[in-house]
Amino acid sequence: MKNIAVIGYGVIGKRVVDAIHLQDDMSLIGVCDIISDWRIQNAVRKEYDIYAATQEAADKMESQGISVKGNMQDLLDKVDLVVDCTPKKIAAQNVKTYKEKGIKFILQGGEKHETTGHSFSAENNYKSAINLDATRVVSCNTTSILRTLTALKKADLLDHARGTLLRRATDPWESHLGGIMNTMVPEKDIPSHQGPDAQSVDPELDVITSAVKVPQTLSHMHYWNVKLSKKVSKEEIVEAFKTSTRIKMIRYDQGLVSNNTIKEMFLDMGRPWGDMYEVALWEDMLKVQGDELFYAYVVDNQAIVIPETIDAIRALTGIETDGAKSIAKTNESLGIH
Ligand SMILES: NC(=O)c1ccc[n+]([C@@H]2O[C@H](COP(=O)([O-])OP(=O)(O)OC[C@H]3O[C@@H](n4cnc5c(N)ncnc54)[C@H](O)[C@@H]3O)[C@@H](O)[C@H]2O)c1
Repeated sequence: MKNIAVIGYGVIGKRVVDAIHLQDDMSLIGVCDIISDWRIQNAVRKEYDIYAATQEAADKMESQGISVKGNMQDLLDKVDLVVDCTPKKIAAQNVKTYKEKGIKFILQGGEKHETTGHSFSAENNYKSAINLDATRVVSCNTTSILRTLTALKKADLLDHARGTLLRRATDPWESHLGGIMNTMVPEKDIPSHQGPDAQSVDPELDVITSAVKVPQTLSHMHYWNVKLSKKVSKEEIVEAFKTSTRIKMIRYDQGLVSNNTIKEMFLDMGRPWGDMYEVALWEDMLKVQGDELFYAYVVDNQAIVIPETIDAIRALTGIETDGAKSIAKTNESLGIH
C-alpha cells in the first residue's frame, strides 16, 4: 500500500480523491486546500482527513467547524506520493517543496511539460513512467488526442492527423463567474497548444490542432481529419478504436445526437457527477474516403484525466509495472466497461 496525498480539492482534485479511495492498492492519507466553504465541507462529509495549505486557511476552516489535521508539511511527511490538483501555475510553485522532501509527485495538464520532464497518457507511455519521481497527466483535450491517435498508430494506420477542437467555455460549477455567451472565440495561434502537447508524450505523432471556445459548459467536441497510412475499410478503423478500453463508440442513430444527450446517459448510468471517463466517438458518423478518415467525438473535460491519474500513481510508485493491468484495474474500479 502506498500513501497518497491530494493537494487542491477542486474540479479535478475531488474526483481524484474519490477515485483513489476506490483502489485497494493505495491509501488516501489526506486532502489539502485553502477553502473552507461547501466544497471542502463535502470532503469532511465523506470523512477525508483535511489539511490546510496556509495558517490563514486553517483558521478559517476551524471557524467553520472543520477539524484540521495539520498543515501541508504535516501531510507531506506521511505520504509516498502527492497528486497536485491546484490551479495552473500554483502546482509548479509547490514542486520545490516536493523535491526537497523527496516525495514523488504528479501534476495536471495546466502545468508545462518542463516542470516534470515527463508527460503521461496511460495507453501510450505507461512503461516510461515506471518508478519515475514525477510526471504530468496531460490535459483533457490532449488525453483524448493521445487515446484516439495511439489506437490508430498501434494498428499501423496513422500517417498524420489534423483536428479542430470546440472547447467548453468554463466549468459548470463556476459558470456564474465567467465564460463566454453569444460568441465563439478562436484561439489566436494555429497550431493551438494541444497538438504540440500530445507530442510531449509521443514525439512521433504528426498532429496539428486548431481550437475555438464555444458558449457552453458540458464538454469539449473534436473534429478530426486523418491521413491513413493505407486504404482500409471503416470496419478496420472501428476495430482499431475498439482496442482502447477508454474510447466508447457511440451511435447518432441511438439518440446520442449532442453533448447534452451523452451527459444525460452517463447521469442515468449512475456515474458520479455523470462523469464520462471515456472518449465518446460517433461510430455511424465516422467516414473513410480513400486513405482519408473523418470522425468526431466528445470529451468530458472534468472526468477524462481521472483514470489516467490513478494509472500514473501506479506507474510512479511501481505498484504495477504492467500498464495493461493497471488500466484494467482502474477501469474496473470506475465502472469503465
Ligand atoms: N477543470 C478541468 O476541466 C480540467 C481538466 C483537465 C485538467 N485540468 C487541470 O487540473 C488542474 C486543476 O484544475 P481544476 O479545474 O481542478 O481547478 P479548480 O480551480 O477547480 O481547483 C483547484 C483547487 O485548488 C485549491 N487551491 C488553490 N490554491 C491552493 C494552494 N496554494 N494550496 C492548496 N490548494 C489550493 C482551490 O481552492 C481549489 O479547490 C489544472 O492544472 C488544470 O489545468 C483541469
